[in-house]
Amino acid sequence: MEDPRRKELAAIAREMKARLSWYRQEGIDTWRRSAATPMSAHVAPAGVGRTMLIEEGTPRMPNQNEPRPYESTEQSLLAAEAPSVLFPIASETTPIGALPAVRDEIGDCRRCKLCSTRKNIVFGTGSPTAQLMFVGEAPGADEDAQGEPFVGRAGQLLTKMIQAMGLSREEVYIANIIKCRPPENRNPQPDEIAACSPFLLKQIEAIRPKVICALGTFSAQTLLETQQKISALRGKFHDYHGVKLLPTFHPAYLLRNPNEKKTVWEDLKKIMEELKK
Ligand code: URA
Repeated sequence: MEDPRRKELAAIAREMKARLSWYRQEGIDTWRRSAATPMSAHVAPAGVGRTMLIEEGTPRMPNQNEPRPYESTEQSLLAAEAPSVLFPIASETTPIGALPAVRDEIGDCRRCKLCSTRKNIVFGTGSPTAQLMFVGEAPGADEDAQGEPFVGRAGQLLTKMIQAMGLSREEVYIANIIKCRPPENRNPQPDEIAACSPFLLKQIEAIRPKVICALGTFSAQTLLETQQKISALRGKFHDYHGVKLLPTFHPAYLLRNPNEKKTVWEDLKKIMEELKK
């Protein structure tokens, strides 16, 4: 006798296939779990455009009169009893795995001379769907030892700045212009930037943040390809490949010049306003 569970699973598989084909027709071909919220939560990650909450249970084909997935977000989010959430995202947004793919491509990088002195590649940390991305200069000794950006004294101040914005390190993304520590913390050299910056660009493409905050002179000048001073660049939004970029003073500079903390706070408030839009 045929196992009834097998039969049930086959029916579910058929239904799921039909349902996926319907979503594909609607231009939705990429799926991911919400990274910004735990599986039990029912709030869409901010900034995700076409989202839909999918309830677990028997799959059901939407009928002609039902709103399309990306039109029904609000109602879906009100379905607070759903045990699980999946967010399909349209193909113009980040496919899952885009960021790990960038890390894989970097591998055990030997593209520039910094590979011979570094302890760890400092790829970047935070949410792969972050709305806000911070870009510093290069790892220092602490970051090189731990393989994580901004974990030293300047990093602790950056963490406080992020928290003052009502966010956490896990909700934003933090990276640097280059991923390996330059000896004696010297400025990165042009060949090192040339070897490394394509990967930062790929990270930005994968994350698609709403705002990038460039930390300090080096980051701002490199990203904006300008020699203008940080004092002229900071506090204003610039365009970076279609993403809003606001430079501000580096937290290490603030450790030496605490009077400038209020200036940076004004800059961060502008970012907070932008994120609310
Ligand atoms: N300074 C930076 O620019 N980046 C780090 O990761 C740490 C300190």
